[in-house]
Amino acid sequence: MRYRHAKLPNTSPDFEYDDFNPPETLWWKEALAGLQAKPKAVPPKFFYDQHGSRLFERITQLPEYYLTRAEIGLLKRHASDIARVLGPDCELLEFGCGNSQKVFYLLAELRCAAYVAVDICKEHLWSLCGRVAAAYPGLPVHALRADFSRPLDFPPSLRDRGRRVVFFPGSSIGNFDPEEAVRFLIQARRTAGPQGRLLIGVDLKKDRALLEAAYDDAAGVTASFNKNLLWRLNRECGADFDLNRFRHRAFYNEAQGRIEMHLESLCRQEVSVPRETSIHLFSGETIHTENSYKYEIAEFQALAARAGWRAEGVWCDERDLFSVQLFG
Ligand code: TRP
Repeated sequence: MRYRHAKLPNTSPDFEYDDFNPPETLWWKEALAGLQAKPKAVPPKFFYDQHGSRLFERITQLPEYYLTRAEIGLLKRHASDIARVLGPDCELLEFGCGNSQKVFYLLAELRCAAYVAVDICKEHLWSLCGRVAAAYPGLPVHALRADFSRPLDFPPSLRDRGRRVVFFPGSSIGNFDPEEAVRFLIQARRTAGPQGRLLIGVDLKKDRALLEAAYDDAAGVTASFNKNLLWRLNRECGADFDLNRFRHRAFYNEAQGRIEMHLESLCRQEVSVPRETSIHLFSGETIHTENSYKYEIAEFQALAARAGWRAEGVWCDERDLFSVQLFG
């Protein structure tokens, strides 16, 4: 499917911006189809509207959510080594950049030819690319608003400036199931090109209690983040979900090697959604909103090999909670 390619008047002289976002009318159709399926499931990318993205930023600062801290600690410690392996003059392409400062640890050590940020949240793109452009005057910076889970058509204004390195931090790869992950990795290989590489953050298998706490924090921020999906459906497509009739559930499914996130209906209820038939939920029925797969290092390398990637390096944090893996 082709999406509108809207180039905004460039109010910032420091970076280029292209919008490949799917038209807003489509997003909730995909969500509603998921709510009518059995079992009910909604694609997780719908979490990240402006409010959801802010809540996610708070998640990354929670004491229980070790992932971001571990990955940043790892990048701080190993960025010079990573830069040595990558070599100079690569074009760094970050997928799902959010508003994170992770890339700064790489930029500090890498002599990059260009930086391209891809995210679905415009607010984050503008903030991050503005900061990168300010910190590295002269570095070509390009913001692409796009859904990176779909094949990406690069705008013609984006020239190929060097060997591409796709940087995909945050263990977002864990939000795809393994078959989708392979498809995504094949696509990333196409995007990176024949000389391209992939630098990817992968959360590791570990103790259940540590995993479950990370997705069900004491302050309830993850619960709000999960429920924001229903709130968005109310706000943007006129549904009438009563948020008090749902509770956030997160548990480690060890057989599948994944954290599962659900919204559980606390009673039998019917939710009306304009222009669609209403949605019935029985007490205890859940809407599956997210998976977060956890991998052993060798297990992930085998998955990436199915997409044609060859392992070139692995770095871990001090406590071996999280890995950043390089493929070529
Ligand atoms: N990529 C993140 C992860 O898998 C996304 C995430 C963190 C998330 N906490 C969440 C998604 C809570 C939904 C709900 O860890």
